[in-house]
Amino acid sequence: MRSFADGDGDGVGDIAGLEARIPHLVDLGVDAVWINPWYPSPLADGGYDISDHRAVDPTFGTVADAERLVGALHRAGLRVLLDIVPNHTSSTHPWFRAAVADGPGSASRERFVFRTGRGVHGELPPNNWRSQFGGSAWTRIVEPDGRLGQWYLHLFAPQQPDLNWHHLDVRVDFDATLRFWFDRGVDGFRVDVAHGLFKDSGLRDVEDSRDAAHPHWDREEVHEVYRSWRRVADAYDPPRVFLGEVVTGTPSRTARYVRDDELHMAFNFDFLEAPWRADDLRAAIISTLGSLAEVGAPATWVLSNHDVMRHASRMARDQDLVDGHNLVDLLDLPSDPELGWRRARAAVLLLLGLPGVACVYQGEELGLPEVEDLPADVLLDPSWERSGGTDPGRDGCRVPIPWSGDRTPFGFSQEGVPPPPLPQPSWWRSLTVQAQRCDPSSMLSLYTAALRIRRAHPALGDGDLEWMAEAPPDVVDFRRPPGLRVVVNLGATPVALPDGRPVLASCPLDADGRLPSDAAAWLECDDAPVSDGQVPNEDA
Ligand code: GLC
Repeated sequence: MRSFADGDGDGVGDIAGLEARIPHLVDLGVDAVWINPWYPSPLADGGYDISDHRAVDPTFGTVADAERLVGALHRAGLRVLLDIVPNHTSSTHPWFRAAVADGPGSASRERFVFRTGRGVHGELPPNNWRSQFGGSAWTRIVEPDGRLGQWYLHLFAPQQPDLNWHHLDVRVDFDATLRFWFDRGVDGFRVDVAHGLFKDSGLRDVEDSRDAAHPHWDREEVHEVYRSWRRVADAYDPPRVFLGEVVTGTPSRTARYVRDDELHMAFNFDFLEAPWRADDLRAAIISTLGSLAEVGAPATWVLSNHDVMRHASRMARDQDLVDGHNLVDLLDLPSDPELGWRRARAAVLLLLGLPGVACVYQGEELGLPEVEDLPADVLLDPSWERSGGTDPGRDGCRVPIPWSGDRTPFGFSQEGVPPPPLPQPSWWRSLTVQAQRCDPSSMLSLYTAALRIRRAHPALGDGDLEWMAEAPPDVVDFRRPPGLRVVVNLGATPVALPDGRPVLASCPLDADGRLPSDAAAWLECDDAPVSDGQVPNEDA
């Protein structure tokens, strides 16, 4: 929300700005929006440090504005998901303030994870766990008597103390938060760090504390919480939905979160993290669909979000050298922006051609690249400071959307008001919504056309995927019955297309009607031969 559109002229995106841009969402053709946290927050982590889960930060508006927005989105035919952040609060949350003030052994400390430190005077953290943003996952507090005292756990920034999910107050409070927003018409939640929440009660040391197989990730106890949330959601008419940010390391562990009495969907990070290579993408698709079929849940495909380097920039790198999906991982690799743009065009036809739910991160429909050269003094991501200035963090994908005009802030806010905290590059004038809307060759036109076809074509959206047996190794080629074929050429040379009527392509076909390198096409193709279920060219 902060970087979508500013309606009140303070340089920060808000509810009024989003409301005014509903027509863009309708033109684009999406059918739901997910809004990042809009709750009161000191912004130690972009709003994922929340001091009141049942209020709206005044920067964005009021709860009444939020209700009006939900109504306006519904009237436009769009559903709305909010973000719920159950793993931690802000250190300014009244519960945490009470926990610090009430002292060791108090009931209020039980809602968080406080421990006495190791060492003769408790001067060492209780264990060796590391924060996701760098440094220890423990911070020592000053007790009410002025002396250094206990430590509290924060798997993210120190301003984000972890909640103790064994405590009944925590469960009751989150139920109240779900109902508060459901009662206001919200259609569901994206669940932040859904694989977190519970910690191994022994809090034992680990060898690699950032490892996914860690005693504070993906613990069995968490499933009972989602079963109880599901009962809350199912009591509404229409039932509300949950989309989990679930990071477990394997599709089969992730599938356990979307069993039929738990969350409805989980982002597919294997697909997001796969390099732009046919075998990696195929493997991610196959393992995802296989694991989800076992629990009967839909797949949820995503290429970019507010936490990773924008995919147009990830794909601009030599994919054989790519290791990681954050700016810090890829900054030093040479970049070919035109290649990234071209691949991003092909990638969206793959994304929207897959069966299940597809998520588009604001700005990818404009082909926005990562802003890789934000000056150090504007960086907001806690990773920057926690890494001692070595990891620029995630701000490069959070730069405000360019809407119109040829000067910053490009219609994001009115000219003459405070500039947005993360500056837009001046060359984004060619990437504005206004510049792209009337250009049939633009990224926005491609997304709009693809979403329109996806909505209308019976083969797209939910349904089956059948791999084409004869596909060359560098080509991802599958059929979506009835009669739609998705062909993505990830190889270095053009490939002949199968018989069929091209309905959309990411770039012009060559003079011989072949699909060029790093391009994709959707074909209407009734007689496509179907494989015997084997992965094509598995051994190639
Ligand atoms: C999730 C959010 C991310 C945030 C973190 C801690 O991964 O997507 O932005 O920093 O959780 O809440």
